[in-house]
Amino acid sequence: MKPKIVIGNWKMNKNFDEAEDLISEIEEKLADYNFETEIVLCPPLVYAELVTDHANEEGSQFYAGVQNVSEYENGAYTGEVSAEMLAGMDVSFCIVGHSERRKYFGETNEIVLKKMLRLLANDIVPVMCCGESLDERKSGKHFEIVQKQLEESVYKLTPEQMERVIIAYEPIWAIGTGETATPAQAQEMLAFIRSLIEKKFGTEMAVNTYILYGGSCNAKNALELFSQQDVDGGLIGGASLKADDFFKIIEAGETVIKEN
Ligand code: 13P
Repeated sequence: MKPKIVIGNWKMNKNFDEAEDLISEIEEKLADYNFETEIVLCPPLVYAELVTDHANEEGSQFYAGVQNVSEYENGAYTGEVSAEMLAGMDVSFCIVGHSERRKYFGETNEIVLKKMLRLLANDIVPVMCCGESLDERKSGKHFEIVQKQLEESVYKLTPEQMERVIIAYEPIWAIGTGETATPAQAQEMLAFIRSLIEKKFGTEMAVNTYILYGGSCNAKNALELFSQQDVDGGLIGGASLKADDFFKIIEAGETVIKEN
């Protein structure tokens, strides 16, 4: 079993002082350990330099990530930040296609693909989110929806590009609601996603691709979720805003690895 990846998506939370405090608290908790689990912090973009400074310190145990990037290369796009700029700041990971960006900012599969290509061209790992709404699940369309999201994004990548992509399955009905997918539901969908990658890119790619679960994953349920065969880690929202909870989720990843 490969080491787990735990990614904290802070969304639009924390003022500057709170952001500094949270990073320091996480560092303090990690200081006594040498975890195999890969840890990524994705604070708001404006704190990118803060998190990269810490991630670049000797002995740091986490990587710097952000939550968004422009689909454009560079130029007259007021307010946007390019992948090249992020790379210049040593950002290593970037979330794309989060359901909140799809819902509030019109991020389509086509835009998601463009953003991934920009990131890959700048050696930043895209964390590509997919997932269905409650209505789509209730009407039994969840597999179809997720398949379409993958077909219109990662399917268009070359194998060399796909090798560097992380997929995060986040059912919209589980995000911020406290209603987590059951471990069986998470496993079922992640196994399905892996089977799609296998069909398109082959077995080795399917085995090696990191597929994460996200949606009300917390300190209490992380161990059971991470114990599922196809769950390679978690994309954590609310619970990543508290150092204690986030640390427990990382510990859950470590426990599963040690037991296997
Ligand atoms: P919650 O963990 O708060 O449900 O958020 C999940 C998420 O959207 C992470 O990207």
